Amino acid sequence: MTACEFQPGLEGIPAAQSKVSFVDGQAGKLEYRGVPIEALAENSSFLETAYLLIWGKFPRADDLEILQAEITHHRRIKYRIRDMMKCFPESGHPMDALQASAAALGLFYSRRALDDPSYIRGAVVRLLAKIPTMVAAFEHIRNGNDPVSPRDDLSYAANFLYMLHEQEPDPLFAHILDICLILHAEHTMNASTFSARVTASTLTDPYAIIASAVGTLAGPLHGGANEEVIMMLDEIGTVENVHPYLEEKLATKSKIMGFGHRVYKVKDPRAKILQKLAEQLFAHSGSDPAYEIALELEKAVAEKLGERGIYPNVDFYSGLVYQKLGIPTDLFTPIFAIARVAGWLAHWREQLETNRIYRPSQVYIGDHKLPYIPPDQR
Ligand code: ACO
Repeated sequence: MTACEFQPGLEGIPAAQSKVSFVDGQAGKLEYRGVPIEALAENSSFLETAYLLIWGKFPRADDLEILQAEITHHRRIKYRIRDMMKCFPESGHPMDALQASAAALGLFYSRRALDDPSYIRGAVVRLLAKIPTMVAAFEHIRNGNDPVSPRDDLSYAANFLYMLHEQEPDPLFAHILDICLILHAEHTMNASTFSARVTASTLTDPYAIIASAVGTLAGPLHGGANEEVIMMLDEIGTVENVHPYLEEKLATKSKIMGFGHRVYKVKDPRAKILQKLAEQLFAHSGSDPAYEIALELEKAVAEKLGERGIYPNVDFYSGLVYQKLGIPTDLFTPIFAIARVAGWLAHWREQLETNRIYRPSQVYIGDHKLPYIPPDQR
């Protein structure tokens, strides 16, 4: 192997061979296990998609029923985890609370048997089942309330909305959230997935892997952008202010949140689906003035930055959808995490199949043979 040139952000350098998902950034195509995202959003459910990602094939009806039953059974979280969350500052970000809680799960299930399929299955089920409960629990706890217990008769997405709002959701809301979870479930070698695979390559436990990926997803250049989009639309305030706002951002070389992608050089296929979902929600329960601002911003950014391949990414329309579902802004990224657990777990399993610990090299650009300087001479 020849030494390759340093690439900031490892751009263009393959970090794994993977069968989990595929992106064509020029054509705007995304596939999970070879299945186009549009077909999954149209026909699948989040749990079926999670099964497809993690086990590499569509479940038969009875496989899916068993997985659903196992997940329903494991939705509750230990009272000690709830008590631990009560000690978190209420001003803390829910992603930090989620990272800490996911890591704490590992304390309760510390047996690590990575060559035992039943251990792998148990960890997959627990993480898919308990992460939504932990997100909803922190929302109540930080408001001084007791968490709402999960309901066994509700679907994955409906139960999450129920735990959040303590009220059975409108079926359309649950259906739309389920599609959002499908759209966010996996996306090749992004920062958090890379982080999950690096952590997995040390053969640590899956709870540490998910905690590490959650921490990576939290940043504003990754999952955190969906929150910032809503703040940006608020700041713009009116359709008339879109152009002056954009001019000012471009003049100061600031990033426009929800635009641009390392891989996509056209509009993200997930943004197209999310935009349709937002429109469905506005038709069902009233329009949102922020949508008009978003449409104008998309047009203005296409005029100014389109030739450089900067178009809306997945985060641009997801916030508008979540807002209409009544989800607090700082829970947008934790919801992204709920979905992405499926992709991270799929990569965990794949990493274990042909594991070699990650140990890249570096290009040293520091000094050599410097003398030690005693403290009083510094
Ligand atoms: N607004 C304005 N200019 C942009 C944007 C943007 N959103 N995105 C990229 N550019 C410009 C950069 O300023 C840079 O210009 P320059 O060459 O003149 O310096 C050029 O395009 C390349 O940008 P990089 O940041 O180097 O591109 P990279 O591939 O590293 O970054 C990223 C991709 C991080 C997503 C970037 O587009 C960005 O910061 N977007 C805003 C944040 C965002 O929406 N993140 C969510 C991404 S999707 C996800 O993670 C789930």
